[in-house]
Amino acid sequence: MKTDTSSQAASVLASENGTMNVRLLREVHSKRFGQSDAPAFLAPGRVNLIGEHTDYAGGFVLPAAIDFGTIATISPRKDNCIELWSQNFSESVTVSNADFPQARHHWSDYPLGVIWSLREAGVEIPPFSMCLWGNVPVAAGLSSSASLEVATAAATLHLAGRDIPRSEVALLCQRAENVYVGSSCGIMDQFIAANGAEDHALLLDCRSLQFRLAPIPHHISLVIANTMVKHSVAGGEYGNRRAEVEEGTAILRSHRPEIQLLRDATPEDLARWGHEMPDKVMRRCRHIITENLRTVAAADALQSGDLKKLGRLMAEAHASYRDDFEASCREADIMVDAAQGLPGLVGARLTGGGFGGCTVNLVESGQAEQFSALLRDKYKAATGIEADIYRCHASAAAHEV
Ligand code: GLA
Repeated sequence: MKTDTSSQAASVLASENGTMNVRLLREVHSKRFGQSDAPAFLAPGRVNLIGEHTDYAGGFVLPAAIDFGTIATISPRKDNCIELWSQNFSESVTVSNADFPQARHHWSDYPLGVIWSLREAGVEIPPFSMCLWGNVPVAAGLSSSASLEVATAAATLHLAGRDIPRSEVALLCQRAENVYVGSSCGIMDQFIAANGAEDHALLLDCRSLQFRLAPIPHHISLVIANTMVKHSVAGGEYGNRRAEVEEGTAILRSHRPEIQLLRDATPEDLARWGHEMPDKVMRRCRHIITENLRTVAAADALQSGDLKKLGRLMAEAHASYRDDFEASCREADIMVDAAQGLPGLVGARLTGGGFGGCTVNLVESGQAEQFSALLRDKYKAATGIEADIYRCHASAAAHEV
């Protein structure tokens, strides 16, 4: 994996959104494993501005990397073992490099899955010791898992002396999660962790993996509001949605074989053959087909500075996610509604895999503080829940720090 030595994102990570920093993690590494100045790698979490559940349908997404992330320090060892220390869980896991364990619903599944995936791809990873620490809120729909995976990949590839294209690193990390961990995510989260750019969102074509960056204007802040309702890709609903989308795609394909993925279908296809689907399946497909159109339009609006249009598209995306895809929840709807009319709002919607997690709000920076305070109050009054609200900055992809 290519690295760059900018430490900007790392210092933001340490100073604004976390309590640990790179220097402290290196000290931990030195105490536990006897190597000072171990190389350290940071991979970010992400927030998706628009384009939900479109990735596994081969469609479009528009995420940005954020200044929450995972740091991994690494050093070689001689005893043919891999030892992982999690500073978050104060726990270490040691496995024999020769005899690799199965996933066991544990934090270590993610880093071990990455090693497994790299090896499957023919990349030999020598025995190593690693310290991990992250501050991406867990189960909040901000991709803590992908951040852990990509940080692990960056560190181990460095140790192995291998330089692999970033898109391939993302695919290998996705495979770790799909096959080793056993959760059926798409490519978005790993891709943005490996390819994001400071001050930019990234429009990704999830089939070709071609992408373009769209600048987020300096006067706009990413305000992320945590409903505090736990989200999980491993939970059944994510998989159910995927299955429903595949069911609808198969029906359209039976009429038009060029429709390999739902990405290939048009609103006209759905108008013609949607009645052959159960109503629920038709609505899932309608969400994805219209969401792809909205996502490309949103990237164009961002690029041309048409924030009004961007806000409108985000509102439509939330309604579609809520009503057609039924992936929202009461609290997320309250959070999105509460944002309407608050000072500085450009657009708000539920972000990520759904069924809880966070809303993303694009807000005029000068009003972001007031916006956040009012949003927190309105949400508390309506739900009784104290929300965490993060003011984030679109950040760089995985890099050495
Ligand atoms: C999760 C998955 C992604 C994507 C989103 C929904 O974050 O990991 O691949 O499917 O949900 O857009």
